[in-house]
Amino acid sequence: MNSTRTPLYKVGQIKKHFPVLGGILRRTKGYVKALDGVDLEIFRGETIAVIGESGCGKTTLGRMLALLDKPTGGELSFDFGQGLQDVTTLRGADQMRFRKKVQMIFQDPYTSFNPRQRVGAAMDEVLRVHGVKDEAERTVRIMEACEMVNIRPEYLQRYPHEFSGGQRQRLAIARCLATKPELIIADEIVSALDVSIQAQIVNLLLKIQRETGLSFIFVTHDVAVARYVGHRVAVMYLGNVVEILPADSLPEAAEHPYTIALLSAVPSMNPTAKEQRVVLQGEVPSPIDMPSGCAFSTRCPAVMDICRTERPVLKISNISKGDHQVACHLNKGAK
Ligand SMILES: Nc1ncnc2c1ncn2[C@@H]1O[C@H](COP(=O)(O)OP(=O)(O)O)[C@@H](O)[C@H]1O
Ligand SMILES: [Mg+2]
Repeated sequence: MNSTRTPLYKVGQIKKHFPVLGGILRRTKGYVKALDGVDLEIFRGETIAVIGESGCGKTTLGRMLALLDKPTGGELSFDFGQGLQDVTTLRGADQMRFRKKVQMIFQDPYTSFNPRQRVGAAMDEVLRVHGVKDEAERTVRIMEACEMVNIRPEYLQRYPHEFSGGQRQRLAIARCLATKPELIIADEIVSALDVSIQAQIVNLLLKIQRETGLSFIFVTHDVAVARYVGHRVAVMYLGNVVEILPADSLPEAAEHPYTIALLSAVPSMNPTAKEQRVVLQGEVPSPIDMPSGCAFSTRCPAVMDICRTERPVLKISNISKGDHQVACHLNKGAK
């Protein structure tokens, strides 16, 4: 996006290293580097689709952004309206204010609804926790949110198990919307649903995005869905964002050899020639035993000497310029 605008949320070199314990004394043997220096800027009203294979750190990134877990290092700053402000040190009421603005939805919302509580009561409780003291206002907000996701008001008297997976996801979205957030982080929220229901939910999110101007981070392993919902697509590999570019420039504009390989494995992204398909060699390295230099260097078809020793950082693409960043030594002369 336009670099002269200030972002809603800025992520600088975020790291999350989980200790690996071993032996009978349960000493720390090493660290799983789930996130290893992620940079990202999220602008108002944009949807960033985050893609990457299982285990590359997508959920961990979402959890860090929602402050559900503490990063090992790095900066998180959010604009509450008066410019970017560090949020990693927020406590008490300030942290609650942040939690209202940035909400996360998970793959299985069943686990986030209390099975013994009617869904309407659950939504009411969330609003009370967020300090909406007036009952009439809570009711209005819940009704509005349900209307936005096409849930009939009488359904609010039901229990979570009485809904289908798709309906539960719509309720989870409504519960978020009722608090009037500015950023929703949706983590694989359609992955467990039937394809037709997936399309319904994805189109619903697009509609909400258009109507409310909210920002979304939409985590998915489905490249086609990412391209459809995202304004920009961020590609992750082993705890890093390796490329971020406008969704409508895909697949042609992709530069990082990993993105190219990932896209070429999707038939709809590669309609032309079968022989263009890039088959990656070897396994994804373990995040406990990360290669030095570029994390992709062990599998990269274009690997150079420098890639094995020096980690490339995310820089503006030297080819497409503007709104396209790539972390690759092939991106020569970039700033
Ligand atoms: N609580 C945890 N403790 C230890 N390792 C974890 C924990 N959570 C995630 N990981 C590891 O961090 C890496 C990234 O995981 P995750 O963020 O769930 O990836 P994704 O959502 O992209 O599949 C994986 O190697 C995973 O095993
Ligand atoms: Mg995940």
